[in-house]
Amino acid sequence: MAWGGVARTDVVTRLRAVLAGLTLAVALGAAPALAATGAPNVPLGTSVWWACMQAVNPGPPGLGCPLPYTPRYPEQLATAHRPFDVIVPENELKMAWTQPSQGHYDFTTVDRILAYARDHGFGVRGHVLVYGKGLPDWMTNPLRQEKWTRDSLLAVLKDHITTVMQHAARAYPGVVREWDVVNEAFDSDGGYDRNLLSRVIGPDYVEQAFRFAHAADPGALLFYNDYDADQPGPRASAILRMAKDFIARGVPLDGIGLQMHLGMARPLPAPGDVARTMRSYADLGLRVAVTEMDVGLVPPFGALTAERQQAVYQEVAGDCAAIPACTGLTVWGVADPLSWRGIVAAPLLLDKDYAAKPALAAVQTLLAGAGPRAPQITGPGGRREVALVPVVDTRARQLRATVVTSGIRALVGCPGTPPCTVTLALRIGTRTIAKRRATILTESHTLRLKLLPSGVASLCRTPRSRAAVLRGSVGGGAAVRRPVTIIGGGPARAGCR
Ligand code: XIL
Repeated sequence: MAWGGVARTDVVTRLRAVLAGLTLAVALGAAPALAATGAPNVPLGTSVWWACMQAVNPGPPGLGCPLPYTPRYPEQLATAHRPFDVIVPENELKMAWTQPSQGHYDFTTVDRILAYARDHGFGVRGHVLVYGKGLPDWMTNPLRQEKWTRDSLLAVLKDHITTVMQHAARAYPGVVREWDVVNEAFDSDGGYDRNLLSRVIGPDYVEQAFRFAHAADPGALLFYNDYDADQPGPRASAILRMAKDFIARGVPLDGIGLQMHLGMARPLPAPGDVARTMRSYADLGLRVAVTEMDVGLVPPFGALTAERQQAVYQEVAGDCAAIPACTGLTVWGVADPLSWRGIVAAPLLLDKDYAAKPALAAVQTLLAGAGPRAPQITGPGGRREVALVPVVDTRARQLRATVVTSGIRALVGCPGTPPCTVTLALRIGTRTIAKRRATILTESHTLRLKLLPSGVASLCRTPRSRAAVLRGSVGGGAAVRRPVTIIGGGPARAGCR
């Protein structure tokens, strides 16, 4: 498994760090990141609108179930070839369903999905906690007596995020592995969408939501989710800017969700665009996931052949498989009759008769061939600072370390004038997770230690003691030992709490 030694960040550029003669000395076996759950490296997901199977289902305004719409998920998901590993409530986790009136929570519908997922071994993406364009009527209704203020709306967000996440974590531990914390915060010019939250709280409602989410469930992976996040343009640039800013200020963001409702509002992405955009997020140390993919066959931007549709699915699945930071691909519906875009768009992987299109096998093959993903250790701690506290006097200067998606990035200095050689090993408990030898030629220097998935499990088993030890020696001389406190949790998985 290749590992680029030098982090090509601004910091590193500034430090003119040069990393020479690196040998990766990790011998812990490259078990797939999700081996513990038996899931493939890149799980294939689908949304489900479970509420539509209920006999009586008025649903909240705008999210009621249309007719004819007759999902029979238990049969459709549990077929012999079982196409999907992950399910996503298409509407039932939205605020209007879970909090139908202020302070009154109703989890009856979403509980059916979570219980099914738990009992049948599906992972769940939690979609969505804060969706400014889709707020419940009790928040947006102009007849509302009490006028909202920044404080009262922030209190609503905090209560909502905390209640929903903690309900899921307590009642279904390990089932919801990641959350879309905020959905569609930007407009097409790259400004903030003007909705009640951005107007009354201000654009920092996004940041506050992530902070509330991390406090509610420190083990959860937190995503920002949007459309057009997959193609270069003002929206993708705005997301990238926000992500950089969050990372710099320690706002707990773990990943970017790319909706990818293709051929809907814009022409299809040009070849290479999706890979490039995915990489731009991954280069920040973030995860990326395709979260709501569908590829419509009808105009305005559709009018595709089935072959072209398959090619688009293949390109995106191939991009995801090729980028280790891409941790999932989810389509927005099990089969064409269940698509929110209507059966004529035929945008999904199973056709009008629920038969698999050739695109399904093609996508499955690409995802199955994907290498190990970014380890799950980082969780919401993926962007957390780690503190290096000297316990043994040493001549090496280790100034700072940061947990990044796939390991630890440490800024290291020589004891005296450079050059010198440093060997560092990252240990969690008594286990060596990673080791690295680097020649430092400049004042200070960034090097990365990669955590392999097997190391992940180790952290996962000791969720309470988030201590790791960075050990090493300088120039073959005195041993260096630094305890590293990883602030932030392990993955939201059974047995990790
Ligand atoms: C859609 C659902 O699919 C529809 O059933 C519902 O009527 C409206 O919402 N982006 C998102 C999803 O993040 O929540 C939206 O889901 C589709 C666009």
